[in-house]
Amino acid sequence: MKPNMLDEYSYDETLSSMYDEYTRLTGKDAEAGKAAAFLERFCIGGNALELGIGNGRVAGPLSERGVRVEGIDNSDSMLKLLAERTDQIDAWKGDIANFGVEQAYDLVFCIYGTFTLLSKREDQIACLRSAAAALNNEGILAIEIRVPFLDGFVNRQRITAKLVDDKNTFVDTETHDPLNQTITSTSLWFSGKSIRRWPQRIRYVYHQELDTMAECVGLELAERWENWTRDAFTDTSERHISVYRRTSP
Ligand SMILES: C[S@@+](CC[C@H](N)C(=O)[O-])C[C@H]1O[C@@H](n2cnc3c(N)ncnc32)[C@H](O)[C@@H]1O
Repeated sequence: MKPNMLDEYSYDETLSSMYDEYTRLTGKDAEAGKAAAFLERFCIGGNALELGIGNGRVAGPLSERGVRVEGIDNSDSMLKLLAERTDQIDAWKGDIANFGVEQAYDLVFCIYGTFTLLSKREDQIACLRSAAAALNNEGILAIEIRVPFLDGFVNRQRITAKLVDDKNTFVDTETHDPLNQTITSTSLWFSGKSIRRWPQRIRYVYHQELDTMAECVGLELAERWENWTRDAFTDTSERHISVYRRTSP
């Protein structure tokens, strides 16, 4: 992995410990079992590769269901948290924008908006290309991302406050670059007497653009759902899980 692939948005030790706490607070940990049940359907008794595996929030429960799970992440601290969680998952340091693997997988998955952390269009396409190449013939690629939500920007800026509970408040300050479809943000996390800072840059994609990028690398949409319990994707959905398979010859 090239050293310049890590930047101010990478999950260093501070961000990684914030992530662990954040997913517990916001209920993302609680939905991990549902995500694992959804994903297992595509790889029962088989193998799966997670892109941006992080601390194993979902990879852990999937592995506990008997799937051989492997993963890639570019953060040493997140990989350390994963290793503390389980020794059943083989994970390595790498860039999901461009990776190669030695075996083919039943399932490759990239969830919780990780795909949009690739903030350049060419990196997103390269990621899909690498993922397609890692699938076996019947293999499935599953991607979970948010539906872009651009209401409330004034002069390309937006500030939103989110009260998580009586001890924790988040204030998101965001800047929108419509030409590149990026949103650069700093979340300020107020808890007790401390204020922590969480910088992030994403490149948002609408579902139709995702389908087109997937088609460019030889994949076609098989299913799309609003959530892990497979509610229908509609015009009010805030996220989607899109499932792709190899394009039929
Ligand atoms: C939002 S977290 C998701 C973690 C985990 N997949 C989950 O669902 O809880 C994003 C993860 O992707 C990793 N990541 C971000 N960009 C990456 C890249 N270009 N290559 C590899 N890993 C990346 C981060 O280090 C982090 O662990």
